[in-house]
Amino acid sequence: MTHSSQQQTASSSVPGLGVIIMAAGLGKRMKSSLAKVLHPVAGRPMVRYVLDIACRLAEQGVAVVVGHQGADVRKVVESAGAQVAVAEQVQQLGTGHAVLQARPLFTGQPGCRPTRYLILNGDTPLLTESTLRELLAMHDAQGAAVTLLTAVLDDASGYGRVIRRRRDEWLTGAPDNAVQAIVEDKDASDEQRTVRESNVGTYVVDGDFLFPALDRLDPRNAQGEYYLTDIVQTAVRQGKTVAALRLRTIDEGLGINSRVQLAEAERVIRQRIRERWLEAGVTMQDPASTWIDEGVTIGRDTVLSPNVTLEGRTVLGEGVVVHSGTRITDCTIGDRVEILDHCILRESQVEADAHLGPFAHLRPGVLVRRKAKVGNFVEMKKAELGEGSKANHLSYLGDARIGASVNIGAGTITCNYDGWNKFQTVIGDGVFIGSDVQLVAPVNVGAGSIVAAGATVTHNVPADALVISRVPQVTREGWAARRRAMQSGVEPPPAPNAARAEAVSKGTAAAPARRGTRSKKSQQTTVQRTKRR
Ligand code: UD1
Ligand code: CA
Repeated sequence: MTHSSQQQTASSSVPGLGVIIMAAGLGKRMKSSLAKVLHPVAGRPMVRYVLDIACRLAEQGVAVVVGHQGADVRKVVESAGAQVAVAEQVQQLGTGHAVLQARPLFTGQPGCRPTRYLILNGDTPLLTESTLRELLAMHDAQGAAVTLLTAVLDDASGYGRVIRRRRDEWLTGAPDNAVQAIVEDKDASDEQRTVRESNVGTYVVDGDFLFPALDRLDPRNAQGEYYLTDIVQTAVRQGKTVAALRLRTIDEGLGINSRVQLAEAERVIRQRIRERWLEAGVTMQDPASTWIDEGVTIGRDTVLSPNVTLEGRTVLGEGVVVHSGTRITDCTIGDRVEILDHCILRESQVEADAHLGPFAHLRPGVLVRRKAKVGNFVEMKKAELGEGSKANHLSYLGDARIGASVNIGAGTITCNYDGWNKFQTVIGDGVFIGSDVQLVAPVNVGAGSIVAAGATVTHNVPADALVISRVPQVTREGWAARRRAMQSGVEPPPAPNAARAEAVSKGTAAAPARRGTRSKKSQQTTVQRTKRR
């Protein structure tokens, strides 16, 4: 078998298999207004984990039973794929009752008749596909009516206990140690409570056996519920085989009922995600502090410093370097991009060989083209920065389209908002924007133009122009020294050589408040005029 055909077999659906996921419970112990199965684990609703595996395994469709906040759960669930159908459990009368609600989805459809069902809890996100395939293989090999997944726990309280045949019952002819029943914690005797083998809540059930057995459930128990687990006893009474697969690692069976367990699941899933990317050729200098959501993709030879967070559907190319304290959410980052410390990037795209940070903030809708640079304390929103262009320091660039090879000077601001509406700034290729420029949108700056430092650009600029808009500079030589002297009561130094200075332009400069008697003439002031071409 070639490598690729092996992979195909591993990910192919199982003939005749229908999957039912129970997700109607409230999850009281979460103490939350959000339905339990919607709580995120590594950035993704808990139920999505089992749902994704279900979709890979099921050949005969997936049914999800919803109840509490059914509309919200339905939305998340239906986005998973076309083969997913939703059944409603209006009243939560127990896990057996929940599974019964899925019956019409399977029996009502012509040509849809699963030969066996895989039943999963919506709150067990750590289960792996390989374990479920193993469970199915065991079910088929033993010709069982019910096959369940069990785990031996140090503290099994709260779980249903797996009751096996005792040695003195051997003579009855059933195989040694065969599973006899599952007894819920609240219904268990003191002796049964000492059993540490617990029911994980994952089952494979024969297609002809399941629904007739559920029809016969009796809610006379400690919780007054229809227990799905009672079908084990029904099968045993009918002389059918009940098989059980014991988990090797307890982690997998963890059902989330509380925030403590949610945190534990988060820890396990995050660790799995990190190992997956380490094995795929990603370097993490401190894996424990590197946070990667389930939906993230990372290219080879990418290096992640400590305390990097990659969220949502972020895609990182190959050879990307991400330094400490950076958080990237739902972004696409090209090959060899370098992102320095403490950047926040969201819903943006950065092309290959670009350079960001430190302290850059990309808000949604940014496109940074190849080899462009976004530096210290630059905030961008709905803006494109063209190939090789630079915005290196202290800028706000919003609602802007900036061409290639543009220099955005330090402190440049696109004034995109007039208090009511947002407007666009367009800057052509090769433009030089000096420091501290305000671009009052809507405004276009033509290709090749130069905007001098400090300009406030309010009108469109044609190509290759110079824009300058500033108050003429006034320089008075010796002024500061004389003021200091006056304030300290010392004899003022003499006025500077008049030959070196131009005349004062009348009224443009005010002298400091003074106690002296010098005339205005004695103040030498230079006015530097900017020439326009
Ligand atoms: C269940 C099992 C128990 C097992 C444990 C593992 C039963 C009777 N008991 O107990 O043996 O050890 O899971 O975690 O099955 N749900 C519905 N509708 C309902 C009730 C529950 O959809 O009316 C769903 C819940 O949303 C949840 C799952 O079924 O996803 C399990 O329900 P839960 O109340 O957590 O069952 P446990 O008491 O934990
Ligand atoms: Ca549970």
